[in-house]
Amino acid sequence: MNGRAWEYSDLNAIAALERENFSDPWNHRMLAESFLSGNFFGSLLEEDGAITAYGGMTVVGDEAEIQMVCTAEMYRRCGRGGKILQDLFDEAARRGAKRMFLEVRVSNSAALLLYLKHGFRGLYARPRYYADGEDALVMVREPI
Ligand SMILES: CC(C)(COP(=O)(O)OP(=O)(O)OC[C@H]1O[C@@H](n2cnc3c(N)ncnc32)[C@H](O)[C@@H]1OP(=O)(O)O)[C@@H](O)C(=O)NCCC(=O)NCCS
Repeated sequence: MNGRAWEYSDLNAIAALERENFSDPWNHRMLAESFLSGNFFGSLLEEDGAITAYGGMTVVGDEAEIQMVCTAEMYRRCGRGGKILQDLFDEAARRGAKRMFLEVRVSNSAALLLYLKHGFRGLYARPRYYADGEDALVMVREPI
């Protein structure tokens, strides 16, 4: 398992994984805009040349915000999601962030449990935040 930061040339593969894993995927244009914004950091794991897990965040001032976290389906439940989160925590702290936020679908129990295990707590709900009407839970990890 090889871990490294995203490169621009990874965006096609990440967009394909987004389509496979999310009902509201980030497309290549959205990924590129975020990646090129100057505030973005992405971490990924690859095995035999294929990306098996990835995550991304933006850091502005002392606040980090997770944009996405995903492990390809057949590689789940082996610690990859936690490894990606740890990479994001390390880089956020290095950039001076004091707290990290994220939004998660209230029905996404796997992600909620992952985030709770890694020190996030629920802050408040955003009603009907997603296009399909589902609520988001805003979570924070503080200090990072
Ligand atoms: C959420 C997700 C990223 C977890 O990735 P992962 O590589 O399986 O995570 P890990 O193996 O590091 O799991 C760490 C902990 O998270 C929790 N967890 C993860 N998947 C779980 C599941 N299906 N059911 C219950 N708990 C789960 C457990 O506490 C787990 O620890 P344990 O295995 O020791 O019990 C993965 O399920 C995924 O990509 N889902 C689809 C995309 C998604 O929903 N992303 C999050 C959007 S906010």
